[in-house]
Amino acid sequence: MNLNRRDLLRAAAAAGALGVAWPLSDRLSVAQAQEAAADLGARWDSAPFTLGVASGDPLPDSVVLWTRLAPQPLADTQPLPDTVEVEWLVAANRELTRIVANGRTAAVADVGHSVHVEVGGLEPGRRYYYRFRALGIDSRTGRTRTAPVGPVGRVRFASANCQSFIDGYWAAHHAIAREDLDFVVHLGDYVYEFGQAGGHPLRDHEGPEAFTLTDYRRRHALYKGDPSLRDAHAAHPWFVTWDNHEVVGDYGQATPQRRLGAYQAWYEHMPIRDGHPTAPQVSRRRYWGDLLELTVLDLRQYRSAPNVPGATILGAEQKSWLEQGVRQARDSWHCWVNSIMLGQLRVPGGHRPYPDQWDGFADERKEVLTNVHTAGLEDLVVITGDWHSAFVQDIRPDFDDLTSPVIGTEFLAHSIASSGYGPAANAVLGPVLGLANPHLKYFEGNRYGYDLYDVTPDRWSTHLRVIADRRDPVSPVSTLTTFHVDRGEPGSYEDRATAGSAAQYRRLW
Ligand SMILES: [Fe+2]
Repeated sequence: MNLNRRDLLRAAAAAGALGVAWPLSDRLSVAQAQEAAADLGARWDSAPFTLGVASGDPLPDSVVLWTRLAPQPLADTQPLPDTVEVEWLVAANRELTRIVANGRTAAVADVGHSVHVEVGGLEPGRRYYYRFRALGIDSRTGRTRTAPVGPVGRVRFASANCQSFIDGYWAAHHAIAREDLDFVVHLGDYVYEFGQAGGHPLRDHEGPEAFTLTDYRRRHALYKGDPSLRDAHAAHPWFVTWDNHEVVGDYGQATPQRRLGAYQAWYEHMPIRDGHPTAPQVSRRRYWGDLLELTVLDLRQYRSAPNVPGATILGAEQKSWLEQGVRQARDSWHCWVNSIMLGQLRVPGGHRPYPDQWDGFADERKEVLTNVHTAGLEDLVVITGDWHSAFVQDIRPDFDDLTSPVIGTEFLAHSIASSGYGPAANAVLGPVLGLANPHLKYFEGNRYGYDLYDVTPDRWSTHLRVIADRRDPVSPVSTLTTFHVDRGEPGSYEDRATAGSAAQYRRLW
């Protein structure tokens, strides 16, 4: 395939042909919508398990298993009774003959016939396989893993973020599905709400923005139509947070009603516990044995307006929970799962142009990071999405004071597919950002992919995995570069073997 999904739509419109249309256009029948989606590479699993299976939030004795029954994924309502019984089983082997847990649950229309099964009584640090059955039909088999306890010599996981369906094929998920991983972390922008594609001339042709629960359900169902995304879910357990586009860009038009619909649709499509469909519990603290503490942050649900007195991105309750965690932390790697840039980002002249990031909450950031330092928390690594570009930067309690200590490293990952700035803009942007931000070590914005973290007791390694071409659903993946952080040594350094690779900025000191 040599055209992007967006290019396919543009070409069809330019030719006056409606054979390729935006599948969520409200002018299409369900059958036409499915056909349009197929033209853009969507292929669902067999009904009723069209959207696949997933597992998530692994604990030492438990994982949550997810599926959603949607025989017609793009329809407004599903041709199903209000309640459908779903059987599930968990086995120790891929052939599903050594069953260790099983049960039944109800898929109900109120939550889009989604199910979230919290399976307990499992062994720590073990691989398991699972499957659902409903209406006489088996789902595909998923694979998952429980968290280990005690001494752990290595953890290997990937992060994904920003997967605009229209912007390209998801070769990055194709690769994630095939990586040897303990788990996957999603950093947000799992779906995009906009009428495709935000302001370009085909907007009218491409269909409407999501506002209602039904709109967001269809959007998630379309995204789950990408076979690589379903493969990545079926291959590994996921931890998830969200950013803005699960609702609307920067929450600009996020009316209370719109939030409720978007939140519920997100809940219905994610393998998460603690089911409050319209107010999901996103933040959580998890452990991978004694090696890694994972702190998942919710930077959307509880925030105030930016740049106002007392502005908070965390909300009071989450902030005290975070600070308590910092004070009581065990000796391990500490990873914050953070949807949007923590580090300061100034432009020439000193302005901070992105108040939607932590920059709009600078007093709170300083307070939280100062507490990290005074509590003596070491080995902090922050992983972040949102920017559609890779950044590596030092974290300091006060970014404007170079005598302020480095207390951690932030890695912003490339996007799965969502467009960043173009190469010409990035060639200018990289050095400009580097000059204005002395804590910035590395910037690369011309590529797409995911970060892979390989962590041992002595060293954290972040591999920037990039695809060759967004126009190819199975584009090969390579490692652009690798950064390391040594245990007990704040700050990162680039692997010598890849230090000469393409980038728009590298700090030379
Ligand atoms: Fe994004």
